[in-house]
Amino acid sequence: MAYSREDIDRVRERTDLVELASEVTRVKRSGRSVMAVCPFHSEKTPSLSIDPARGLFHCFGCGKSGDVFGWVQETQGLGFSDALELLARRAGVTLTRDPEAAKHRDRRERLVDAVERAVSFYNERLRTADDAGHARSYLRSRGYDTDVVEQFHLGYAPDAWETLVKHLRGAGVSDEAMTGAGLASRSSRGGLVDRFRNRLMFPIYDVRGDAVGFGARLLDGDGPKYLNSPETPIYHKSRLLYGLNWAKSQIVRSDESVVVEGYTDVIAFHLADMPVAVATCGTAMGEDHLDLLRRFSKRVVLAFDADEAGAGAAERGFERSVPGDLDLRVAVLPEGRDPADLVSKGEVDELKAAIASSMPLLQFRIDRELAGFDLTEPEARGRAVRAAAALISLHPDVVVRREYAVLVSRRTGVDLGAVESALTGTRRGAETPPPVDEQTLTGSQRTESEVLRLLLANDVGIRSHELSPDLFSDPLYRAAFEIIMPIVESMEPGMVPDLGAAIGSDDRSEAQLLLRLAMQQRPLAEASDVMNRLRQWELKRRIETLKTELDVFDVAADEQGYSERFARLITLQNELRG
Ligand code: UTP
Ligand code: MN
Repeated sequence: MAYSREDIDRVRERTDLVELASEVTRVKRSGRSVMAVCPFHSEKTPSLSIDPARGLFHCFGCGKSGDVFGWVQETQGLGFSDALELLARRAGVTLTRDPEAAKHRDRRERLVDAVERAVSFYNERLRTADDAGHARSYLRSRGYDTDVVEQFHLGYAPDAWETLVKHLRGAGVSDEAMTGAGLASRSSRGGLVDRFRNRLMFPIYDVRGDAVGFGARLLDGDGPKYLNSPETPIYHKSRLLYGLNWAKSQIVRSDESVVVEGYTDVIAFHLADMPVAVATCGTAMGEDHLDLLRRFSKRVVLAFDADEAGAGAAERGFERSVPGDLDLRVAVLPEGRDPADLVSKGEVDELKAAIASSMPLLQFRIDRELAGFDLTEPEARGRAVRAAAALISLHPDVVVRREYAVLVSRRTGVDLGAVESALTGTRRGAETPPPVDEQTLTGSQRTESEVLRLLLANDVGIRSHELSPDLFSDPLYRAAFEIIMPIVESMEPGMVPDLGAAIGSDDRSEAQLLLRLAMQQRPLAEASDVMNRLRQWELKRRIETLKTELDVFDVAADEQGYSERFARLITLQNELRG
């Protein structure tokens, strides 16, 4: 990391965790102890304890804990360096960085600065300029008052070629920053011209709240209805979600986000008092978008209207959600209506009802698939069941697959046994089963068996690492390690041990395990990767142990002891993150 320990500590010392916490949740002080309603799980009575002096938190309800940086990372979905930068800014600490990072950062700051100036310029125009009358009446027709203009920094781009360019030049913004930020482009005659003309401007912010681009709606005349910023060093549409900066704290609190079609729908959710909506910016929902949302809530509701296009959009990203921990759902809105329509017609209750009755994406897809068949005919029922089975087989959980089989059987009238055998057929065709004993291993067992395999090969990489029995969590693997380690230690790295001679007649299960592992044909993993994973598993176990200890710790009886464990916990968690 390019930041110095001193800088990090300085920011930590100058940051008040209680103040930070009270920005997103209810905080109660009584005497020296501070308790807060935990924003990481849903609860009514405070179970999150804050140690203001050390700037540490721990929740006795859900077990989350961390320091001021962890707090900002968790509540705002930022990485460590973003959290550090944010808190440094708040605390007035100037971070010293290495020159490469500084250069990159300065360019970013220049581009954001250019976009932010453009936001103010367009906004001012919308509110006051004579030539923006039609834009203002468009806003009224949509039911947007001055509060909306204010909150979303809406703007108007004049119907001219270089108003913004001139304004920005006057403010000292370089041509390079204007083109780099996608605000202007070079004309065929070599001059700079505004990219956006005669459009209603929706500024787009990234997750930390920096202005990075625009969505721009045509007001009259020709051209695409919406025009977006081009890809720039600060505007990556595959990773941007409009509205996330405003919605993120509420998304964390309600553990639910809603994905809608566009800018006007996001605003509609705010007007309907459900500030949890986000939208992609002129692109389809992709994996990166889901990853971004996953940081804030497990549940993600796709809210699209019931027409074909919307339904198609709702199906993208599904495969990804299957193995993951994401609860991806679909809310079907009344035919041909989007959230913006519903809210502007005063039908907020319908919108709320649609969101509340969202269904799992898999169920939605199965329903749609079945709707395509004439279920009065046996052949069609057969095809319908096979199509549905193909979808169900994507789900990793056998219990859930069975539940869906029941549902399909009920919908189609096909006997449950027949649905289930269609399902078995699909799954068998879909995958080659992994070797028997691999299948049932936990993550840490798998890592531990990789270490053993490297040792069995007397791999040069693994021999360069410090290994000890307590890195192994599974007693069987630990025992196997204790057999193989002395054998390879007596040899030059790279020489393959003669297992037959050493343990061929040993019938203890740890010896048998080694023999089995030695026969596996899979390629060996990289020793340093495996070691990293092994250490991470071990760290995780130590963290779990400490957490359990803290949960039952009598703070009143031993404040000192509690603080010490707490600090140790934070150190371990930072180590795990690093
Ligand atoms: P709409 O077509 O409903 O836009 O698309 P609108 O501004 O509400 O237009 P009218 O008044 O209903 O005709 C809804 C959202 O889809 C995105 C925009 O974000 C818009 O807010 N969209 C739409 C685009 O990004 N590009 C388009 O070409 C159309
Ligand atoms: Mn619309």
